[in-house]
Amino acid sequence: MVLNEIICLKDVTKTFKDKKAVDGVSFSIRQGEVAAILGPNGAGKTTTLSMMLGLLQPSSGTVKVLGENPNSRKVREKIGAMLQEVSVIDALTVKEVIQLFRSYYPEPLSFEELVNLSGLKEDELKKRAEKLSGGQKRRLSFALAMAGDPEVLFFDEPTVGMDIHSRKIFWQTVHLLKNRGKTIIFTTHYLQEADDTAERIILFHNGRLIEDGSPAEIKAKLTRKSVSFRKTEAINIKGLENLPHIQKVSVKGGRVHIETDDTDAVLSSLYKLNGYWKDIQVDSGRLEDAFEQLTEEKEAV
Ligand SMILES: Nc1ncnc2c1ncn2[C@@H]1O[C@H](COP(=O)(O)OP(=O)(O)O)[C@@H](O)[C@H]1O
Ligand SMILES: [Mg+2]
Repeated sequence: MVLNEIICLKDVTKTFKDKKAVDGVSFSIRQGEVAAILGPNGAGKTTTLSMMLGLLQPSSGTVKVLGENPNSRKVREKIGAMLQEVSVIDALTVKEVIQLFRSYYPEPLSFEELVNLSGLKEDELKKRAEKLSGGQKRRLSFALAMAGDPEVLFFDEPTVGMDIHSRKIFWQTVHLLKNRGKTIIFTTHYLQEADDTAERIILFHNGRLIEDGSPAEIKAKLTRKSVSFRKTEAINIKGLENLPHIQKVSVKGGRVHIETDDTDAVLSSLYKLNGYWKDIQVDSGRLEDAFEQLTEEKEAV
């Protein structure tokens, strides 16, 4: 086991009937990391999270949390989760549900702190859980996830259905928890959320882990940088393909487009060549486009 390793998945596969929801996935997460499992709908994010929580058993491979089976009591006392499906005990008031959850844990957070963290309002505490709106249920669900003062937090698509203000507050709270040293794993299909909040992005597609790295690394890998210029008679396209750092040369709309991982290197090669380059443009690429392209490409394979 790597030092400070909190979660470890080894070659995990989950099959539902003949559908491989998760396919040979391995990764580990260190203490204090904030990791995003990013991927389009159906990528296998929830299934993976459910296996980390011990709610589903892998068809093959192993999942360890804090070095143990996720179902062990020791693990359960140290983790908290906010899932997409919010189901709470409807007959109790919000206050009663929170107190009940606190009673499950050896060292729960204080009631006041849970109310503060979750942003639940005074009048909401007296309501029966079944009477809450979608947004209020999310806040309650967050309070319940935090009840045991967990070391490790799991959030499954936490901001789906939240308005902009609630989203902002939610991510601020996540930053606060990160600063308290919590390990946080969240799933999202919003690239921007992963980029803004996570220090690590684990990219899923069709049940497979297709990239794993810091947002900067993922961006560098995914983003297609390009240099383009007007096509003229003098330009030898074939000759360009042999220059260093050039991944692809194409002609579109009367312009030559060069895809590259290093636009500076391409520019200096171009200037050294005896060409007559007109109307040169450098494009650093949009991450959103790259994310789309990548998931489309993998689809075609
Ligand atoms: N209980 C289940 N039975 C059958 N198929 C399932 C079940 N849960 C998930 N799947 C399928 O597995 C794939 C991954 O699902 P899921 O993990 O929910 O993806 P995500 O959370 O990334 O949207 C999807 O194709 C989904 O339809
Ligand atoms: Mg999901």
